[in-house]
Amino acid sequence: MDIIRSVSEMQQRATSARVAGKIISFVPTMGFLHQGHLSLLEAGRKRGDLLVLSIFVNPTQFGQGEDFEDYPRDLQQDSQLAQEAGVDIIFIPEAAEMYPTGYATYIDVEGITDNLCGSSRPGHFRGVCTVVSKLFNIVQPQVAIFGNKDFQQLAVIKRMTLDMNIQVEVLGLPIFRESDGLAMSSRNVYLTPEQRSQALVLSQSLARAKQLVSAGKTDCAAIISQLTNDINKKPDARIDYVQICHQKTLADQDDVDVDSVLLLAVYIGKTRLIDNGFLVIKHD
Ligand code: PAJ
Repeated sequence: MDIIRSVSEMQQRATSARVAGKIISFVPTMGFLHQGHLSLLEAGRKRGDLLVLSIFVNPTQFGQGEDFEDYPRDLQQDSQLAQEAGVDIIFIPEAAEMYPTGYATYIDVEGITDNLCGSSRPGHFRGVCTVVSKLFNIVQPQVAIFGNKDFQQLAVIKRMTLDMNIQVEVLGLPIFRESDGLAMSSRNVYLTPEQRSQALVLSQSLARAKQLVSAGKTDCAAIISQLTNDINKKPDARIDYVQICHQKTLADQDDVDVDSVLLLAVYIGKTRLIDNGFLVIKHD
């Protein structure tokens, strides 16, 4: 496994792999790898000949007062996990090379960024799209793998890839959870043991909503109000949003249907956690 820090070296490696007829699969991350990330790498291993993992805590996607400085970092452990996962190259660029003095170009996806994290974290998706499109140009993958955990992020990246005619197949993989249901996240390390148990309210809300739907409740406002009450009972919980949206447009819905996704963002203490899931169980 190679660790590459320079943009031009990564581009050269990608170009020669492509000339040799190899499929490059790519998993972009901000590091502090957990099993959710590893599940993406496993899929990437199967889909490509050259598996590239990027680790870059991207400053442009963090707002003022967010956790850019504190974001957990552990390159040594990440390298070991990457090696075990069969990664061929870890690309770890420097912020100064990604955004040199005079840097002036950003990508804004309209519409689906208006709601949810787009409205509660202004500028967030502009930073995500900008860095992901730069990484696509540097790593030149045919396949890129993301998690459904960041449901809106995946939708935004798919939109951007389509709109900008980027020749990358964007795949989304299921949310990887702890055995008690908590969605894995690099930010879970911020939680105290007491907060860790309160954090279960997110996955419990998903289960509760599915239960209400299967019992015949389809009024979104009523479901949301029930969940809001349950979440507010947790002493350290503060709701950012609880919404039921159409999976494609991410617009709010009035009634649950097969396209309905429940999306949650809840602060537990200072830690902002997100989770989501479809509300109608699909039978193939
Ligand atoms: P990061 O939060 O490190 O996540 C990297 C990828 O792992 C994302 O596609 C995310 O959806 C996925 N992921 C995180 N937790 C997961 C879980 N529990 N199960 C499955 N997949 C999970 O998302 C980012 O980094 C950044 O915004 C990035 C796309 C790298 C751009 O900077």
